[in-house]
Amino acid sequence: MELCRLLTFKDLGDERGKLVVIEGETDIPFEIRRVFYIYGSDNEVVRGQHANKESEFVLVNVAGKSKVRITNGTGEQIVDLNKPMQAVYIPKMVWKDMYAFSEDSVLLVLANTHYDGKEYIRDYDEYLKLMGLKK
Ligand code: TYD
Repeated sequence: MELCRLLTFKDLGDERGKLVVIEGETDIPFEIRRVFYIYGSDNEVVRGQHANKESEFVLVNVAGKSKVRITNGTGEQIVDLNKPMQAVYIPKMVWKDMYAFSEDSVLLVLANTHYDGKEYIRDYDEYLKLMGLKK
């Protein structure tokens, strides 16, 4: 099972400044149905702490930096997000924690779904059971 995939977007900048484009289904593996962004979280905060039955995500720090820890209950990967053209694709049924937010962090998140709180798994024991890793 794929834990996550690192993506690098093209920088279409010129002498006037930078421009990064993210098109659904071409630059990322899904059609974009939702966009949200997280900012104002301080360094001690851990966000996320959930897996999703349906949602896939692309995370990109358009400003500042943060880290995301991704696990499927056995393997683990930690990704540094610190460039506006660098992103991570996180498939469904993967547990994720976002943390180490810099003061200027703006973490942009693209998702393939509209929000539905019922498809979020927020209990790690329940997640391990669904993954067949715990009775
Ligand atoms: P939450 O999922 O806890 O944020 P994070 O995963 O970044 O730690 O979401 C915080 C609140 O915002 C929660 O009450 C649900 C709500 N929310 C929406 O209504 N729509 C959304 O798309 C998201 C991501 C959250």
